Amino acid sequence: MSVKSWGEVALHTLLVFLLFSAIFPLTFSAANQPRNPKKRNPLASDSSSAVFQVEGNVYPLGHYTVSLNIGYPPKLYDFDIDSGSDLTWVQCDAPCKGCTKPPDQLYKPNNNLVQCDEELCAGIHVSKERQCSAPSDQCNYEVEYADQGSSLGVLVRDHITLRYTNGSVVRPRIAFGCGYDQKYSGPNSAPSTAGVLGLGRGSASFLSQLHALGLIRNFVGHCLSVQGGGFLFFGDDLIPSSGVVWIPMLASSLEKHYSIGPAKLLFDGKDTSVKDLELIFDSGSSYTYLNSKAYQAVVDRVTNDLKRQKLERATDDPSLPICWKGTKPFKSLSDVKSYFKPLAFSFQKAKNSQLQLPPESYLIVTKHGNACLGILDGTEVGLENLNIIGDISLQDKIVIYDNEKEKIGWVSTNCDWLKEL
Ligand SMILES: *[C@@H]1O[C@H](CO)[C@@H](O)[C@H](O)[C@H]1NC(C)=O
Repeated sequence: MSVKSWGEVALHTLLVFLLFSAIFPLTFSAANQPRNPKKRNPLASDSSSAVFQVEGNVYPLGHYTVSLNIGYPPKLYDFDIDSGSDLTWVQCDAPCKGCTKPPDQLYKPNNNLVQCDEELCAGIHVSKERQCSAPSDQCNYEVEYADQGSSLGVLVRDHITLRYTNGSVVRPRIAFGCGYDQKYSGPNSAPSTAGVLGLGRGSASFLSQLHALGLIRNFVGHCLSVQGGGFLFFGDDLIPSSGVVWIPMLASSLEKHYSIGPAKLLFDGKDTSVKDLELIFDSGSSYTYLNSKAYQAVVDRVTNDLKRQKLERATDDPSLPICWKGTKPFKSLSDVKSYFKPLAFSFQKAKNSQLQLPPESYLIVTKHGNACLGILDGTEVGLENLNIIGDISLQDKIVIYDNEKEKIGWVSTNCDWLKEL
């Protein structure tokens, strides 16, 4: 009890702090410019955002997470934040295969199953046929991830606790998956989190449901710190009023991914021959994956450029496929970044709009003291021609998914605000 109330007080303090420190650094530079009055619709005037503290890192953990209170009385579960999928699910006491949490930390359904005839159930079965033999059947789901992991379960509906930036708390009932059969495969070990928070724009996502209930505007954003941690928000309060690069989402994407393009690849500000890339923003992926051609171009340019440096390939570091060692072990990215040039994606239909990747956005420093390339060959792992911008390249940017105007925006910033306390 005392722990819980302390937690709530602490969170509230964090939010107030966030509001003050967050709005200032970013609007500051706009002070001398003519203000671009934000057009507000009537709903927006009293709209508010919900903010969550993010934990985790690209290396060694490989994921960023938030903790959410679910149920009443509320219980805390940690979720991998995933802008590459819609459905949110939590490990389920059903009983469970493939659960990694102890039984007392699993979610227990309590006669709160979503029925098969509900619209929401249809929303998670867009491509596959829905198997409802009777309308009152439970609503089964299965999600498969690009890394071959999967979760199978049933949809339930329960209260989630949302705290607005203005301090108000609401506990709407939201549908999510209770996952009783998880599989993990490939090189990745079983995730340590209780579940996945799907930030996608499909109708079953938390955001779409909160928006449909009129609780939040249809925006989600994240700021993942290079130092680890950061913050996540639903709603539009924390969107900087200037400096954001906005690119329209591609409508073609069948799965309604957050994707933009076409883009060409730049190395050290100069064109490479690689163009027409479609980029999917996916916070559920630790690293960035490019198709073979683009990947090879990155490897060639970086390798070629390193010839004038005292860096050698470190073939004995198993952390990632390509690593380099210095004359002595590297301690952090700041030891490394002077050796490497920036990469960038330049959007062919939006002149002068770039997604810049400084060395920190494509390298890690491993526990062996080497610098490794955090861009991987997606074609080789079965992603075919998809290009996935993962956590490593989303760091130290506020990234905003605007589902009202269907565009994605970003601005470089320091994502450490919430950790100051
Ligand atoms: C905070 O924002 C929410 C969402 O817009 C609103 O419903 C609530 O009344 C606000 N609370 C206060 C104290 O202003």
